[in-house]
Amino acid sequence: MRQRSRALSSLVVGLFALAPWLDACRERREPVAAGAASPGVSSAPAAEGDTLRQAAARTQRKIGVALATWFFKEAAYPELAAREFDSLTPENEMKWYQVEPEPGTFDFAPGDKLVAFAQAHSMRVRGHTLVWHNQLAAWVKRLEGDALKSAMLAHVTATAAHYKGQIAQWDVVNEAVDDDGELRKNSPFTSLGKGYIAEAFRAAHAADPGALLFYNDYMIEDLEWPKSQGAYRLVKELKESGVPIHGMGFQMHADPRRWPSYEVLKRTLEHFAALGLYIELTELDVPVGEIPGTLEQKLAAQKDLTRDMVGACVSVERCTGITLWGLTDRHSWLAAPEWAKLRGNGPHLALAFDDAYRPKPMRAGVIEGLSLSRK
Ligand code: G3I
Repeated sequence: MRQRSRALSSLVVGLFALAPWLDACRERREPVAAGAASPGVSSAPAAEGDTLRQAAARTQRKIGVALATWFFKEAAYPELAAREFDSLTPENEMKWYQVEPEPGTFDFAPGDKLVAFAQAHSMRVRGHTLVWHNQLAAWVKRLEGDALKSAMLAHVTATAAHYKGQIAQWDVVNEAVDDDGELRKNSPFTSLGKGYIAEAFRAAHAADPGALLFYNDYMIEDLEWPKSQGAYRLVKELKESGVPIHGMGFQMHADPRRWPSYEVLKRTLEHFAALGLYIELTELDVPVGEIPGTLEQKLAAQKDLTRDMVGACVSVERCTGITLWGLTDRHSWLAAPEWAKLRGNGPHLALAFDDAYRPKPMRAGVIEGLSLSRK
């Protein structure tokens, strides 16, 4: 009896010790970093028949999907998305060209529709993206200097304020670093000097102090790559100068012709996490067009590459979520002729479900990655 009361009291004490930390989480929409609540717990193997979201929940990670409003007319689309995923990213609906097509004229309707869908299905929302050189509204491309900077700050403020309290994470600045590690040369924002990035983060934070703010980029998945080193220098400087940056987004648009191993991915994610940043895999897809062999062999290799990327995330405590960049193969941007060539000869069949919404081996790769114990 005395022993049980001692155990009970130490449990209560433990819970109270956690309370302030939990409060901090509630204030800023901090993800429950895996294992933080109970250090030493490795990820839990998925149970037979688990949905992706159930398997992810066992590891305290989020498993997300990029969705596009125009595919909702297919009933199977929202159904599968809500069943398998607990996080969503608007594929295009929160980008500048859509949200502010004319100066000061805002159209949040498509983005609002996706947020409402997420709320109805207990899905987290990752906002994508506030400042990006692509898909800019035409009027922005005519601006420069102070006019460009104030338009950028007004856009960030208005968009983050509109979604205040509804967005867990924002990709505040997307793809600002070039392949050589310096600031991107074909971005109009680069002409403002690198200070524009810190200003964008501060404006987003002021508009929604509860959202976690991320820098997001691609081809940074290997530390040896100059672009990865450039992105590291950028976020390290932002973090050390007190800019409200909370996370690093690795897009994971895999290129099987040249892609890092599990060990290199793990080391790269750990390197950025050591800056005190949360890590997310934000736009994962694996095109099979250039993978040699039969379709079966291509899909098996796709599964292994997916397992390694997801497993690398699960092996890093501060890596809190994985998002697939689309629901089925035909919804993938790589199914669109204008983009397919970026990954060589197609078809790329880049996602976890086929055109008939049936699971592919890649889906099993996600489950296996989530079940990888942290070693
Ligand atoms: O909205 C127009 C529509 O009115 C028109 O009928 C249709 C036909 O041309 O095009 C529609 O615009 C397309 C838009 O997607 C919406 O579907 C654009 O042509 C097309 O270029 C655009 O592609 C998007 C691409 O970003 C633009 O750069 C992809 O869907 C989207 O998956 C892709 O996502 C990016 C991330 O945001 C950032 N990281 C890389 C990733 C892949 O490029």
